[in-house]
Amino acid sequence: MKVALGVCGGIAAYKAAEIVRLLQDRGVRVQVVMTRAAQEFVRPLTFAALSGEKVITGLFGAGAEEPNIDSAVEHIAVAQSIDALLVAPATADTLAKFANGLADDFLSTLFLATTAPVVVAPAMNVNMWAHEATQANIAKLKQRGVRVVEPGAGYLACGMTGPGRLASNEAIVSAALEALGATQDLAGETVLITAGPTREFVDPVRYISNRSSGKMGYALAEGALRRGAQVILVTGPVALKAPGAAEVIQVETADQMRDAVMANLKRATIAIKTAAVADYKAKQVAGEKIKRAGPMTLALEATADILAEIASVRENQVLVGFAAETQDVLANARGKLERKQLDIIVANDVSKPAIGFDSDRNAVTILTRDGGAIEVPETTKWEVAHRVLDAVVALKQRKAATIRS
Ligand code: PMT
Repeated sequence: MKVALGVCGGIAAYKAAEIVRLLQDRGVRVQVVMTRAAQEFVRPLTFAALSGEKVITGLFGAGAEEPNIDSAVEHIAVAQSIDALLVAPATADTLAKFANGLADDFLSTLFLATTAPVVVAPAMNVNMWAHEATQANIAKLKQRGVRVVEPGAGYLACGMTGPGRLASNEAIVSAALEALGATQDLAGETVLITAGPTREFVDPVRYISNRSSGKMGYALAEGALRRGAQVILVTGPVALKAPGAAEVIQVETADQMRDAVMANLKRATIAIKTAAVADYKAKQVAGEKIKRAGPMTLALEATADILAEIASVRENQVLVGFAAETQDVLANARGKLERKQLDIIVANDVSKPAIGFDSDRNAVTILTRDGGAIEVPETTKWEVAHRVLDAVVALKQRKAATIRS
């Protein structure tokens, strides 16, 4: 699959470098097209090095050599070879050209010449975005089927605050993948995901818990939905907004999480246990608030091992666990994979404070039952989620191939 990534002249142009990498991670070839203004912000060499392809910087070649018939019709060749055109950041000027059919540079010419789906991610000053002319152009483009990844609100490089900031790279890449139709590889699947911490009460006001924010599990839920799956999200208490299309079951304790998972397991074809379930709970929960009276000993007992229970009763579900480890990460994770009879375990080194628990970033190794190991170096949880889902899809494909042969 190939995407032409149009980069326009704005402060956010540098963010397009990460978009190249994110698309490549999902197996997409990227042909970068830069407007003249974009080249004032970022050098074409940056994109050439990242994409491994020549960067298109002008309508008649790079200017070094005499224009010839190849450079004169290059926009047609690119227009026919791409599966989607993504423009990020898209400036007011380029949007105006697109909306009004002007074709005075490579990008605007490519826009007119391609029949591939188009996604634009605008970024500009608050007033430029709010201007009637820009809004009319956006409305016109939407009406013609162009997908718009709306800009976010916040502090802008121009010193103003409000809408105009480039959407997150993850949202932009998701929109591009959706446009490519590449994201439907989980269509027909029902994914049961657990996320967040559990709380094990000691008395009516105190509990034992952990630092899980739910971000990893919610990223998996979002990713699975985008790839066409139905999602049942069993979530401990977190401060996140659940993805709208997921069926959400709120729980608090490990026992409640166990009951919710077991009640819904039959409906699932894939179960992913990201939750940081407490391993111990109070043997006895005090009915009244415990009074301070010198040292005290709290008697604990083990909670139900939900993952092991699923493994013992599952039918055909693919079962994915996470292993949060601080030492001998891979060996311990592989031990859990074998003991709990999982298909995949995601080994998560949680000894590094900046990643893992309560962070937007993570670094993991995805271990499979057949001895495979896929290392995912530090990146966003969105990216980790997709790499885990890639591994699930690959496993399902291998299983289907074995059944056929
Ligand atoms: O929520 P975030 O802030 O985004 O952080 C993400 C994370 C660090 C919580 C996540 O990436 C992660 O590593 N989750 C697993 C946490 C954990 O409890 O690991 P564990 O090694 O203790 O448990 C192994 C597996 O058994 C896990 O899949 C867990 O869900 C499951 N388990 C554990 C205990 C229990 N009683 N029942 C279980 O099913």
